[in-house]
Amino acid sequence: MSSTAVIGAQWGDEGKGKVIDIIAAKAAVVVRSQGGNNAGHTVVSHGETYKLHLIPSGILYKNTLCLVGAGVVLDPADFIGEIDNLSARGISFDNLRVDYRAHIIMPWHTLIDRLSEEHRPDNAKIGTTGRGIGPCYADKYERVGIRLYDLIHPDVFREKARTIGKLKNEIITKIYGGTPVDIDKTIAEYLALGEKLKGYAADVSVLVHEARKAGKTIMFEGAQATLLDIDWGTYPYVTSSHPVSAGVALGSGVGPNSVDEIIGVAKAYTTRVGAGPFPTELFDQTGETIRQNGFEFGTTTGRPRRTGWFDAVILRHSVRVNGLTSIAVNKLDTLSGIGDLKICTAYEKPDGSRLTEFPPTIEELAECKPIYETLTGFDDDIGACRTFEELPTACQAYIKRTEELCDCKISMVGVGPDREQIILRK
Ligand code: IMP
Repeated sequence: MSSTAVIGAQWGDEGKGKVIDIIAAKAAVVVRSQGGNNAGHTVVSHGETYKLHLIPSGILYKNTLCLVGAGVVLDPADFIGEIDNLSARGISFDNLRVDYRAHIIMPWHTLIDRLSEEHRPDNAKIGTTGRGIGPCYADKYERVGIRLYDLIHPDVFREKARTIGKLKNEIITKIYGGTPVDIDKTIAEYLALGEKLKGYAADVSVLVHEARKAGKTIMFEGAQATLLDIDWGTYPYVTSSHPVSAGVALGSGVGPNSVDEIIGVAKAYTTRVGAGPFPTELFDQTGETIRQNGFEFGTTTGRPRRTGWFDAVILRHSVRVNGLTSIAVNKLDTLSGIGDLKICTAYEKPDGSRLTEFPPTIEELAECKPIYETLTGFDDDIGACRTFEELPTACQAYIKRTEELCDCKISMVGVGPDREQIILRK
């Protein structure tokens, strides 16, 4: 019996899908604990590419129980759309369950998300995915949210949707000058979706607890990443949930001691979507080459990602706040042919002092200059390497140095997009 959490260790899009898929292959239960359809996992399995947003990756395995926990925010139309698309490709949903307590993304959430972004000055835009994530979590904490339980109980839903919808329309029209949501139409559409979701509703906390008691292998599938965490990320350029490992326990309704292994997934370089300071960002041809070679364009939005060198300061922060037991370094192959490789080992502050730990505010982060160490690059195609020893010496040195700087074992090295293109280190 064991349970493993897979967590994004940087700003997201680290290729968690692939690591998740490897762990999911051995898991009897896969749980999503936070976030919503702002996430996008690409899983390549047997030559087929699957883009998953909210459905746990375990769905690609016939007998895996797939759970969506209470910490998730669920857009019902999108969720049903995802189910329909995957069903058409022969995937079965018999083993999917969603917690009654998961909050529902309503049309006013997506609308307010977009309107509030539009109303922010250019230098204060968060660059959200526009999926209503922040406003939905805000309502949850303001205790005016609508949960799956409400949605599948029409009388409760009608009443809540009318009262809350009216208030939200005031905000939409009076504060933002937007067009109000048609509440009656929304109620009708959502009740139809609720009818489809009914069969999936369950108490996920109980199911995870029972699975653990029965000695089953569990995987907690993270979404977003450490630096997008509402507390431990680069606030306010973050998402509104807890992608760090503690969010796994909160969002699925188990104690923190229910997680045995915590794998942080990082890329061999750094990327981020949206705004906010990014010390190792590259604005030159090397950055563009990394973007093109690494296909660094958002799964959910298609936006080009910002690219930069590997930042060990970020990873040390990640190791600490998540309690990582190991790191999976992905996309090492992307660095082939770009010349010497740089790793940021610490930051230099404006007064010339050296900072070795990630600063708590973006104001401080924006002032930090990366201090680099330069390592020899490599030109080889490493896509066929399956053991660490098969990697060119320069790759081995890069991984070993990264491991030293992050003070955490690197247990996996990704050498290409396919599920098989990964080196598992002892
Ligand atoms: P939101 O989650 O849509 O509110 O967006 C807040 C910030 O998190 C934005 O910078 C998004 O680009 C970023 N974000 C949200 N989900 C993901 C993800 O799955 N990968 C990478 N960035 C994300």
